[in-house]
Amino acid sequence: MPAGQAVVARLEGTCLDPAWPRLAAGRQEQFDSNAILFSGGSAPRDVWAESGLGATIDASVVATGSPLALIDLCSMTANTILGINDPWVKLKQTAYLLSSRPHYLTARIGNDLTYRVARRILGCFDRFGEPGDFVVNLRQCNGSDAVELALHAAWKAASSTPGRTRLATFRGSYHGENLTANWVSEHQPGTLLADKPDNVVFFPTPRVDEAGELTDDTLATLAALDQAGDGYFAIIVEPIQWRNSVHVIPFEFLRRLRDVCTRRSICLIFDEMQNAFGYTGTISFAENCGVCPDISAISKALTSGHGSLAIIVARRAFREIEGPFGAKSNSGNMLPLVAVDAVLDRLLGMDPAEAEALPDWLPPALAAQLRTGLLAAEYEHAVALIDDMLAELRRRFPSLIGAPRGLGLVRGLVMLEADGQPSARLAALVAKVCLLHGVYVRQADTAVLLKPCLVLSRTEADAALAALSRTFEEVLSLRDKD
Ligand SMILES: Cc1ncc(COP(=O)(O)O)c(C=O)c1O
Repeated sequence: MPAGQAVVARLEGTCLDPAWPRLAAGRQEQFDSNAILFSGGSAPRDVWAESGLGATIDASVVATGSPLALIDLCSMTANTILGINDPWVKLKQTAYLLSSRPHYLTARIGNDLTYRVARRILGCFDRFGEPGDFVVNLRQCNGSDAVELALHAAWKAASSTPGRTRLATFRGSYHGENLTANWVSEHQPGTLLADKPDNVVFFPTPRVDEAGELTDDTLATLAALDQAGDGYFAIIVEPIQWRNSVHVIPFEFLRRLRDVCTRRSICLIFDEMQNAFGYTGTISFAENCGVCPDISAISKALTSGHGSLAIIVARRAFREIEGPFGAKSNSGNMLPLVAVDAVLDRLLGMDPAEAEALPDWLPPALAAQLRTGLLAAEYEHAVALIDDMLAELRRRFPSLIGAPRGLGLVRGLVMLEADGQPSARLAALVAKVCLLHGVYVRQADTAVLLKPCLVLSRTEADAALAALSRTFEEVLSLRDKD
């Protein structure tokens, strides 16, 4: 892109040159210093990345120095719906950075971008109400923040009815790592800083049986919530429980839950960190299941990894937020808002009048995508690539891979022991060895999580299939040796 390249050319040979050496010591020395530099859980380990585009990271293996084209099948931990280095998001951020527009604004100071992004996001909820039925909070940084804010908003709305003190959540859930989010998650590290509140009630994971009917447990949950509804201020549900071996909550359950919440005036919260902004073909899960929550908490793909931002979209009745909650300091950075605006361009397509003013030096394929939107143009294709890959892997490894799980681009492959039992041990092993075989996937309890970006290409899918096959061969031989 000549206009951008002309700017980059001016940086060459200066300390702003991307190739300018930043570290004196080599990679191995850097990794050897992990213990004195980083806290546990945050140290890089296996692979060193140089550059990347889409689902491919150009990297090398630390232990051997050998080059590695790493296929990222987990969107670099579930965030980058547009892959690495999306050209449009980077262009929009570059244009903003090169201007004198404010790079940071406190919540009391407005700007056209704040209003534009708010209107665009709310526009995605238009079909679920009248204009003005929903409001948005754009001032959170992480998914855990957005979950906490959603709970605060629901709690505040219920404050005039003192008997409404309970919160319902589900087994198999994960809502984040701050104290509040962790309290409502089944996945907890053990003892937390404070005792668990006694008003959080865990219900069994909602499921269907083999005939596709809601299980007795699940029906009992609905009945219990209906009966004791006046005592609950909120119900929080993750439409796809990824840590629960990528379990999709049955749509019929969500429909009936919505009905209970409406009749009993309980706030229904969707934790949409994993699925929102493209991974299931829509911006919000309401568009998938036809059930609109009272509050949607969204993060991750929102900026596609180009900045930290989380939001809630809430029905007007949940608009009040009590201080000091509602505006995290770091949410004042404007670049994540630029990213959301660009991600919406990419996913949904641009406003036709604006698309008329696209620079003429933009690559034609990118300009065409920006006119149509990737969800309309590419989503089905990306899902088909993953479907084919999963089918082929099951064909190659029938004794190791169980039934596929998940939806759209949020998928799971259950790992099986030799006796056919689902195995968290083997899923962890896959996640451990995958990088060195050239593919990045994560463990999701007994499943391997596959959550590729929307721009995954056929060549990348083929390379991922080969790398996953090498990974599964190694895991299979270790399993059968045990
Ligand atoms: C479903 C769900 N909710 C909330 C969170 C918390 O998000 P964050 O890590 O940005 O705080 C996560 C993170 O993985 C998640 O998967």
